[in-house]
Amino acid sequence: MKTIVTHGLPGLMLAAVLSSGAAAQVSNETRERAVVCAGCHGEGFNSVQPLTPSLAGQPAFYVTTQLILMREGVRPVPVMTPFVEKLKDADIEALAAMLEALPAGRSDETPDPALAQAGEKLAERMRCGSCHLPSLAGQEQMPRLAGQRIDYMLAALKAYRDSTRAGADALMSNAVAGVPDADLLALAHYAASK
Ligand code: HEC
Ligand code: HEC
Repeated sequence: MKTIVTHGLPGLMLAAVLSSGAAAQVSNETRERAVVCAGCHGEGFNSVQPLTPSLAGQPAFYVTTQLILMREGVRPVPVMTPFVEKLKDADIEALAAMLEALPAGRSDETPDPALAQAGEKLAERMRCGSCHLPSLAGQEQMPRLAGQRIDYMLAALKAYRDSTRAGADALMSNAVAGVPDADLLALAHYAASK
């Protein structure tokens, strides 16, 4: 595969890759794809678009799993279909490795301090950190929640609870079974505030 050193290439996204120091090389092909993805997921993959998740700093294992679920139609996301349907496993792995190395930022939304505090208590009681890590940085197939968009996270939590989002396993639907909307909102504000 033809690879190019990111050093010296223009663009904020690549500057972010560079400053992370983790991804010394990103292939031309992956870079060209990533520019298209960033059109929705944000400059540096920190999203400012409603209901569109940030992907910077997301564990590669999680991103790979989700892109395969999307490609196979198990997690159907109609707006994403044209961008994932032709990706090979190796293309997905290359994108995932690049995304994991990007520094995670913050959503442009402002978490409500009172809601975030209530969410912190709920998260402790519900042991979200046992899987997503106490910092909510995520690990392996468990996504990063820290700094994620509130609107996206609330929608994701409702979708797991109502069993309208299929995942790689049923862990999340079990974790939020029967939890009221108000608590899910508080959890989303807490995670965004981390
Ligand atoms: C037209 C806009 C758009 C484009 C282009 C796009 N995405 Fe997405 N993507 C979305 C939206 C919206 C979602 C949230 C779907 C949902 O609600 O479940 C999403 C979800 C994702 C997720 C799941 C994240 C999570 O936290 O579960 C990944 C991974 C992803 N996109 C990667 C990519 C990659 C890689 C590309 C380029 C090949 C790309 N996207 C291109 C809009 C887009
Ligand atoms: C037993 C482990 C476990 C626990 C406990 C858990 N999660 Fe998860 N969570 C997961 C896994 C695994 C996924 C990915 C599932 C999939 O494939 O869709 C996930 C996905 C998510 C997502 C989707 C993020 C995205 O980017 O789309 C959110 C939001 C989330 N969890 C929040 C929470 C919150 C809040 C709690 C506490 C109430 C919690 N989780 C407790 C394992 C767990």
